Formats: sequence, structure tokens, C-alpha cells
Amino acid sequence: MAHVSFRHVYKYYKSESTPSVKDFHLEVDDGEFLVLVGPSGCGKTTTLRMLAGLEDISEGEIYIGDRYINYVSPKNRDIAMVFQNYALYPNLSVFENMSLGLKLRKMAKHEIELRVKRAATTLEIYSLLGKRPNQLSGGQKQRVALGRAIVREPQVFLMDEPLSNLDAKLRTQTRAELIRLHQELRATTVYVTHDQTEAMTMGSRIVVMKSGEIQQVATAKDIYNHPRNLFVAGFIGSPPMNFVEGAVLEEEGRFYFDTKRWRLPIPESFYPAFRRTSATALRQIVMGIRPEHVVCDPELVRQHSASAVQAKVDIRELMGADMFLYLTSGDTRMISRVEAHSPFEPGDAVQAAFRMEKAHFFDKETGMSLQAQEDPRA
Ligand SMILES: Nc1ncnc2c1ncn2[C@@H]1O[C@H](COP(=O)(O)OP(=O)(O)OP(=O)(O)O)[C@@H](O)[C@H]1O
Ligand SMILES: [Mg+2]
Repeated sequence: MAHVSFRHVYKYYKSESTPSVKDFHLEVDDGEFLVLVGPSGCGKTTTLRMLAGLEDISEGEIYIGDRYINYVSPKNRDIAMVFQNYALYPNLSVFENMSLGLKLRKMAKHEIELRVKRAATTLEIYSLLGKRPNQLSGGQKQRVALGRAIVREPQVFLMDEPLSNLDAKLRTQTRAELIRLHQELRATTVYVTHDQTEAMTMGSRIVVMKSGEIQQVATAKDIYNHPRNLFVAGFIGSPPMNFVEGAVLEEEGRFYFDTKRWRLPIPESFYPAFRRTSATALRQIVMGIRPEHVVCDPELVRQHSASAVQAKVDIRELMGADMFLYLTSGDTRMISRVEAHSPFEPGDAVQAAFRMEKAHFFDKETGMSLQAQEDPRA
């Protein structure tokens, strides 16, 4: 096993003048399960392919362990990659599919057998070793593809959306299996997905990317609770964070968030961040607040009466134990997460209140959180 270092890595594809990956600088710890997440085209696959040696690195350096690998050929990088499209050989049995790579490496027969059987046991596909791919379900094929990677016992696993061909139930199940597998093998893994739920449940750390650039690197919890800019705040979380534009005003030593219709008192914990911010920036602020921090239950509204506003229920959406209320207040739309058995109906006038201590404040111009550190890796 090994750690992986990206040092200021850039990728310029031949035809492109702007880089597809820009100043990617990151340390993946030994044994870590790191998830790259971001919208389509943000450079996730390109980053993985540079690490695997399938794409040239335009600028910067990559190390696996202490080895500089920019010019090392893919087969000598000691990496195994699992793709979305797992491409098993249809004419070979599961056993042969899993062992092919080792055979090509001229590994001793008994060692091959040992590794394949061990991996098959871990993945619970032992009974399938004699079957052919067309006799397997999608999830079973996926596990064979994983098994083929595992038997190589590489220093680093790379996975590019390996679950996206599976239906929702199988995806959840295989995701849990991958987590268990990682806990067992502790192999350094870089996992790519565009699905934020997947990212939130799998990674020890998450890297959020946009337009080739790292936006934030942190644990799922930190990314959710302390997004460093508007992009991360809006990308992570479902339904997404609510955003309201306004200004932060200071009056007699107290700060308020001021919109055309509302004047919301802001807790003192935010004051130091506001005092660091220029007066110009404070005039153009976006407040972010997650649906679970917009309360509608009358008892909770009473507790947060200083930040209560009038709203109308447009739609309600039942999601198991929760219900999402889509609200309008003036020309502001927002979503509130309430308990499933709450009595609200479309058309109802309600009072909604913000848990202001949970709010986020962003500079509208730069998109940066006023509370965030400068460095995305901090
Ligand atoms: N071979 C190529 N030649 C030129 N441009 C490319 C090539 N491959 C990818 N790109 C561009 O590089 C950017 C990043 O692509 P990449 O495939 O890494 O994105 P991604 O994050 O994996 O997206 P997705 O979630 O859709 O898989 C995109 O703008 C894409 O158009
Ligand atoms: Mg991709």
C-alpha cells in the first residue's frame, strides 16, 4: 500500500486552450478511501487517468509512495482500475476472468488459485467461479470486475463510477460491500462519482471539483457543515441548501441580515467573520440555510420567533420519515424539512423560522464563505 501525491498537476488536452485539470494538488493518505465528486466534465476521469498512466501529465508531478511516476508506464505503476464499463471476457469463466491478469504476469498456478479463491470468498462470488458472465446479474458481474482488480493486490485502487450501471437497490448494496471491503483490505483507493450521496456515504475524505479545480477537500461532515463556497454549498445536500440574497448591516453593535422583506438578527458567533469582511462585500451577501434549519412546527417557530417569516406552502413532498415543504415568501422560494406527519397542505399560509446559528454567509461576488479558510485543503 502507498500514499499518493499530486503536486500542482495540470492537464491540457491538445485541442483545448483551457486546462481540463488545473493545479490539482493533494495528498492521498496510505489506506485512505478518497472520493472525487463533481458535475459532468469537471475533470474527475482525467485526474484518475493521469494517475493510472493512461493520460500524459501536462504539468506537475505525481508520486505513488516515494516513487515519481510521471513517466512510468501504466503496467508498472502497481495500480488496478475498475471502470463503469467492466468489460468481462464473455467466453471465459468467472475464475478465468479473475485470474487472467495474474496468468499474464506468469504467477505460479497455486498462488493464482489462492488469490482468486480468497477474493471470491470476500466478494461472495465463490459459487459463481465456474459460470460465464452472461449467466450473472449486473451486481455479480460488477463484483467479478472488482475481484479481478483485488487479486492483483495493487498499491492503489482506482474506481471510476463503478456502480453507475447498477439499479438503485443493487447500487446501495454494492456500495456497502465496497466500504466493507475497504475496511478489510485497507488499500489506498481513489473513487470517482458524480453522485453526491455516494460521495457522502463512502469517502473518508471528499474532494469536490468544478471546472478542473479543487473546490474543497474535507470529510463528508465538514463539507456538509462548512462548505467553503457557494458551489460546494449548492452541490452537496439534497434537497439543496436554500439561498437568499441580501446585505449584512450593523446597527448599534449588532448584525442583521437584511432583504427587501426581512431583517433577521444574526448570532454573535458570526461577528468576527463579518468584522474581517469589507463593508462593500457586506452589502452583497448570499445567506445559505439548509432545509432542516428552516422550521415550520409552531413550537419551534416560537423558539426562533426573531427570525420568523410569513410563507405559503406550494408543494409538499413525502420522503419516508421526512416531508419537504416547498415554500414561497414574497419572491423567495425555499424548502423546509419537517416531520412526515406534519399537517401542512399546499395553499396553507405558514410561519417559517430560520435557525440562524446554522446559517452560512457567502460573498456574492467571489462566492466564498465568510467563515471559510482561504486554502481549500484547510
Ligand atoms: N480526449 C480528450 N480530448 C479533449 N478533451 C477532453 C478529452 N477527454 C476529456 N476532455 C475534456 O476534459 C474535461 C474533463 O473531462 P472528464 O472526462 O475528466 O470529466 P468527468 O469529471 O470525468 O465528467 P463525467 O462525470 O461526465 O464523467 C471535459 O471538458 C472534457 O470535454
Ligand atoms: Mg468521468
